[in-house]
Amino acid sequence: MPTLFDPVTLGDIDCANRIIMAPMTRSRAGEDDIPTEMNALYYGQRASAGLIITEGVYPSFNGKGYVRTPGIVNDAQEAGWRKVADAVHQAGGKIVMQLMHCGRIAAHHNKPENSRTIAPSAIQAKGEIYTDAAGMQPFDVPEEMTLTDIQSAIDGYGQATARAIAAGCDGVEIHCTSGYLPAQFLSTGTNKRTDSYGGNLGNRLRFVLEVLDRMIAVAGAGRTAIRICPGNPFNDLFDENPEETFAALLGAINPKGLAYLHVIRMEAGVDNIALANRHFDGPIILNESYGFKDGQKALANGDGDAVSYGRPFISNPDLIEKFRTGQDLVKPNYKLLYTSGPEGYVDY
Ligand SMILES: Cc1cc2nc3c(=O)[nH]c(=O)nc-3n(C[C@H](O)[C@H](O)[C@H](O)COP(=O)(O)O)c2cc1C
Repeated sequence: MPTLFDPVTLGDIDCANRIIMAPMTRSRAGEDDIPTEMNALYYGQRASAGLIITEGVYPSFNGKGYVRTPGIVNDAQEAGWRKVADAVHQAGGKIVMQLMHCGRIAAHHNKPENSRTIAPSAIQAKGEIYTDAAGMQPFDVPEEMTLTDIQSAIDGYGQATARAIAAGCDGVEIHCTSGYLPAQFLSTGTNKRTDSYGGNLGNRLRFVLEVLDRMIAVAGAGRTAIRICPGNPFNDLFDENPEETFAALLGAINPKGLAYLHVIRMEAGVDNIALANRHFDGPIILNESYGFKDGQKALANGDGDAVSYGRPFISNPDLIEKFRTGQDLVKPNYKLLYTSGPEGYVDY
């Protein structure tokens, strides 16, 4: 049985070990949402991970929801990401970009001028979101997407994929959980459409499958991946039958030969790891609250092929070495998760 320190191949991506850095929004993009030298330094510091998955990056201006998050929609942003990818590669690592379209989980204060907050249906999410401009704000009431909006969102994922690969990233991952746009299409609580993108289960899957096909057409299946967490209620998401929804989604995805399936486990509700293994034959990355020992155990059990770590990587850029030598981990300063500047970011 493999250990966390053994190499693994995820589709077309050869990883030196099975300790993956999970995607984490840190709200430190530069002006015009362009990645900076500081972002390159941060990711480069963590390049001993078998694979880094970037923070959620918006694939079209309408997809931005949070403050100071980076995009991949124009030449300047692509050039910023090239610096990041170069820093990771120079340090011997691999990097996949997570494409995150927030849909209704947005406040207009955080969004570029002329962008819109759009979703499958015009249903406002309960809750609030942080903005620099006006503190905590209710989520925007989204506009229901027209068929043209849907096509342009899909085009956006395709163009973003092309730019991510052109910037030197080793692959792309669609963020398909946590209440963002793809999950909004999948779920009965947020998708009340009566056209071919809503209503029955097959229609609710359509958006995600079309996006994935577009990403695959650009990057190849071996460089395209998906992140899921069936039953996750985050951001006011509700689905009547997440197990059925995701069994069907994975059934449709399985033949595509993706690089990997990234699955987040939950304490209660659906057994997501079992669900993933039942319906997906390719490589699986496990996530959520793993330590070194239970990560090793999960691999030994055959639960998955690699384990991703989020919070531990914030404050332990040398996590692999710490695991290897059995050192204690440094705890992150949670007050500095989403602040701007180097403190709590590149100084661990
Ligand atoms: C500061 C922070 C930002 C996060 N941002 C993202 C994100 O952009 N995309 C995503 O899929 N998950 C995001 N997550 C979730 C993590 O990827 C991961 O699932 C979570 O931290 C649990 O893993 P852990 O127990 O190893 O930290 C974020 C988590 C944290 C702590």
